[in-house]
Amino acid sequence: MKVLVTGGLGFIGSHTVVELQLKGFDVVVIDNLSNASTDVLDGIAEITGKRPEFEKIDLRDKASVSEFFKKYPDVEGVIHFAASKAVGESVENPLLYYENNLNTLIYMLQELSAKDNANFIFSSSCTVYGQADKLPITEDAPVKPAESPYGNTKQIGEEIIKDTCKVKKGLNAISLRYFNPIGAHESAAIGELPLGVPQNLVPFITQTAAGLRNELAVFGNDYPTPDGTCVRDYIHVVDLAKAHVVALERLLNEKNESNYEVFNLGTGTGSSVLEVIESFERVSEEKLNYRIAPRREGDVTAAYADTHKANDVLGWKAGSSLDEAMLSAWKWEKKIRNL
Ligand code: WQD
Repeated sequence: MKVLVTGGLGFIGSHTVVELQLKGFDVVVIDNLSNASTDVLDGIAEITGKRPEFEKIDLRDKASVSEFFKKYPDVEGVIHFAASKAVGESVENPLLYYENNLNTLIYMLQELSAKDNANFIFSSSCTVYGQADKLPITEDAPVKPAESPYGNTKQIGEEIIKDTCKVKKGLNAISLRYFNPIGAHESAAIGELPLGVPQNLVPFITQTAAGLRNELAVFGNDYPTPDGTCVRDYIHVVDLAKAHVVALERLLNEKNESNYEVFNLGTGTGSSVLEVIESFERVSEEKLNYRIAPRREGDVTAAYADTHKANDVLGWKAGSSLDEAMLSAWKWEKKIRNL
């Protein structure tokens, strides 16, 4: 069974390719290498014993997308990760985000909806909820006006898929709304490779401990939370990757209840920034150098998933603890820094 993974050399994409290949799927990866290198193919091969087929394509080029599907007519499922995902960068350069995240989705859907039957998994984000009124967050929580063009592309992307599925009954799609993916494969053969200064908490923590960064700035400790720092639902990237295989198999086995479904992917547990730091210090036995800094624009106070729908309908549950995820992140950081 051939499956296309776009953005398959990225952080979540590469972990998903590993889980697909371990389940026996035949994977072809598209990546434009704007935020990943082909070394990741070696990491995937090291873990699974198999190197996926790889096509260097920029999905903004409509003709190349069409060419791809002519070359691979036997693709039965698509998991679409390819997108730009830096919140701050999206504020600085909105048109890059609208073009890269939406045109590529439209070209992909144009190809898939021309088929009699297509199965499509979309990489979405809890960012669509903004600051939810009720916690934990369920899938029917209202989508709030996006805080950034990045978040807006996820909201608009979901709408484009939903509207297309309404008229193209042969297109079966699932949007997966990730909470905060962290960690790395236990082999440390693949992991998160942020370019430049990490925007996200966990790579900043591990880079600080590895000596690449001077200290971690904790963006605010005056929030209405138990310890004053923001709360998030940190999910191990391997748990997240496994959820993509379960979602794809749901469509391939025609278990979906409608041809467009949405699932939150989180652990259901919220952890504060200070709790994440404590977890890191516990598992690494390293003291982390950090200071309390002013709040970061656009941060929500708290977000964590209601996991009932993913557990009971999708049939998937995150298995790793925060400590296990933090230890895997640290192991990966030490590996790539030869520590
Ligand atoms: C987590 C917490 C920060 C860095 C973003 C995107 C979301 C998804 C995941 C793509 C917050 C605090 C962070 C630092 C800090 N990305 N923090 N110091 O903002 O919840 O979600 O990444 O899909 O769409 O919005 O994740 O890791 O940036 O921040 O104190 O140096 O850590 O304030 O409370 P976030 P994050």
